[in-house]
Amino acid sequence: MTDADQIRNDVVEAALGKLDLDTKARLLAGQDMWSLPAIPGIGLASLVMSDGPIGVRGVRWTADDPSIALPSPTALAAAWDPETARRAGRLLAQEARRKGVHVLLAPTVNLHRSPLGGRHFECYSEDPHLTGETGTGYVRGVQEGGVGTIVKHFVGNDAETERFTVDSVIAPRPLHELYLAPFEAIVRNARPWGIMTAYNQVNGTTMTEHRHLVGEVLRGAWGFDGCNVSDWMAARSTVRGILGGLDVAMPGPQTVYGPALADSVRSGAVQESAVDEAVRNVLRLAARAGLLEGAPAVVTEAPPAVDGQALAREIAARGMVLVRNEGGALPLDPGQGRTVALIGAAARDARVLGGGSATVFPERVVSPLDGLTAALPPGTLRYAVGADPGDEPVPAGQGFVLRAVCRDAAGTVLGEGSLPSGQVQWIGDDLPAGATYETMATIEVTGTFTPRETGEHAFGTRGLGAFTLSVGGRVLWEGVQQMGDEADPFEAFFGAPSERGRVHLTAAEPTEVSLVFTVPDTSALPLKAIMFSLLHLGPRRDADELIAEAVAAARSADTAVVVVATTERVESEGFDRKDLALPGRQDDLVRAVAAVNPNTVVVVNAGSPVELPWREEVAAVLLTWFPGQEGGAALADVLLGAVEPGGRLPTTWPAVLADAPVTEVVPTEGRLEYCEGLFIGYRAYERQGITPAYAFGHGLGYTDWRYESLEVTGSTARVRLTNTGSRPGREVVQIYLAPDGDAHGRPAAWLAAFAGVEAGPGESVEAEIALPVRAFEIWDEEAAGWRRIGGRYEVRASHSSADTRLRATLEL
Ligand code: BGC
Repeated sequence: MTDADQIRNDVVEAALGKLDLDTKARLLAGQDMWSLPAIPGIGLASLVMSDGPIGVRGVRWTADDPSIALPSPTALAAAWDPETARRAGRLLAQEARRKGVHVLLAPTVNLHRSPLGGRHFECYSEDPHLTGETGTGYVRGVQEGGVGTIVKHFVGNDAETERFTVDSVIAPRPLHELYLAPFEAIVRNARPWGIMTAYNQVNGTTMTEHRHLVGEVLRGAWGFDGCNVSDWMAARSTVRGILGGLDVAMPGPQTVYGPALADSVRSGAVQESAVDEAVRNVLRLAARAGLLEGAPAVVTEAPPAVDGQALAREIAARGMVLVRNEGGALPLDPGQGRTVALIGAAARDARVLGGGSATVFPERVVSPLDGLTAALPPGTLRYAVGADPGDEPVPAGQGFVLRAVCRDAAGTVLGEGSLPSGQVQWIGDDLPAGATYETMATIEVTGTFTPRETGEHAFGTRGLGAFTLSVGGRVLWEGVQQMGDEADPFEAFFGAPSERGRVHLTAAEPTEVSLVFTVPDTSALPLKAIMFSLLHLGPRRDADELIAEAVAAARSADTAVVVVATTERVESEGFDRKDLALPGRQDDLVRAVAAVNPNTVVVVNAGSPVELPWREEVAAVLLTWFPGQEGGAALADVLLGAVEPGGRLPTTWPAVLADAPVTEVVPTEGRLEYCEGLFIGYRAYERQGITPAYAFGHGLGYTDWRYESLEVTGSTARVRLTNTGSRPGREVVQIYLAPDGDAHGRPAAWLAAFAGVEAGPGESVEAEIALPVRAFEIWDEEAAGWRRIGGRYEVRASHSSADTRLRATLEL
């Protein structure tokens, strides 16, 4: 313990001693959606939390309060570089400070158990070591900026179906070796200030009440001294929560903590010492963040400023994975008069982030069309939509100028607010000035829409309640949307969009739009919030015609770049995916373009694996994930060779869904059995003898590497390699361990360590890579502890899990 830790602990104890039971109980419940109450009597300021992980949204859910949007966590993990994650973290700390946020609800370190997992894009990898290393870098970076992290979702929240109640049934060995492992690495190596306990149960106990995993494992074995915050609305029981080690119930004010917690002490169900322990953890968190008078903050001076846009662009390129590059198709040669046909709806309307609580609102988005237009000589780029997979209405955006008008029952205007899109997400007191939940009777989203295209425009709604929708002065729909059967409390975020009617509109001619929402009685709700959206979908053109247009553009160009993508209805928090197919006619589009242009480069704009049935028919395939706000600029950098694509796959990319080791994420009678045990990701493909489309760790740069020697002494591997290409580059040297004749049920090989090296053309470089003790251990279920397994190991120095370049033997 450092001197500062000691002082903080002393100040915390003194402050705790001054609090009465009711105040203590109140401090453990959110005072609203994002914060804990201030207690001026002990010099405690209000602690503010915010999502996480690709940016810092702040306490308002609106594009009026923009944030830098970094690439998706899958992209960050694809950089295979904890230092890059650390730099991302430092930027996020800067963003948090700018927005008055003290604790970031991130990183998400659940594993890629199945590619169907809805939040796959928000997690790092199928491999616990890569996840742990990336998460460690991230947490260090954020906390070096004086901002706390809440590592989530502890644990077993690897899919979304029935996420509030599902029981993830995981045997102790995979639980420790896979799912707990990243949390453990981060807790031990980066000392996060907080952890978020998940919605689900593990082996029959809800995670917000899990004494064993929280008390004995997280705090006991790993020495976690941070704060345990519930996932939003995950705390269900006052007594079981506090006895299970849950410190804070979020959000508030109506939670199972607060007055109910004080009562449970008074009734004798809970000892006051349990409440004190939780308060201690909250006060320690506040002290670290500099919110408790007399206690030194961990970081007193903000670190040097980071250029967020530049970093977002750099990380996007670092995370892009070039999985195929026949005949050196990339980088493109933008030489004299060479032309590019850029094709795809997502090339124009880029999809830069995944859906749900990970959403932030960037100030600007650079689409592939913007990025390439800026980078290519004038007149050499031609754009065609080709296929538009978005066939459902989305929040009104492009072409709309909207505001929200709040009225009372007599129709008198109480307040107005600007609306950057058709989405109204007002949480807690974040209402337009003058309006209150008690006085508001209606909210009207109103303004004009100036279409980009002539034709039939569809309008719709998302959210629950009574609506009147009018376009051009005509009522299109009037009705009530009830909650569906499989309702998620966050239905208004994730629920299906509903089309309500169509209107023929003419390009460039503004028309009036209005959506009136009747404000429900919010007095009994645990959380006061208004959430609904005005949705829109532009005219659908004939799909064959669109493809024909793209083919014509591709035929007459030297290179065709096709951007294919998932939509917001495919990858999001709140639901799992049903399949891995690209939505709409995108596969047909790629095939048609590739048939007329041998230089077809496909850019895959998806946060997690999708099937690419045409992958052998095209010249190059570049995975960009959700590349964040600067994605289009980074894409131009990579396509034109200003930088090399730096990514390696953090997760195996199956050829078809059926090849994935886990294809079932729907619980049976509330239980989701992790019956595959240790065999997820590359461990499973290897065992089943299935060749995926692209192996874990795979990724091509723009230069070549010769692996020359591998030497293993003690617990260090030394790999010497030479850049044999004609340009500088970075290689990720991956070290796998393969036990010789294993009697312990271990996989054939697993990632033990990795290191990135850089070298100029013709240069040699040596990577010195420490092999962690844990790589040689298994979780012994009988002894309930780690056990080192001696014997002979093959140490592999590899370019990917399927491409071993050098081997050595290690006797333990
Ligand atoms: C998500 C968390 C998130 C929280 C607050 C929950 O629904 O699971 O990841 O931090 O909401 O937005």
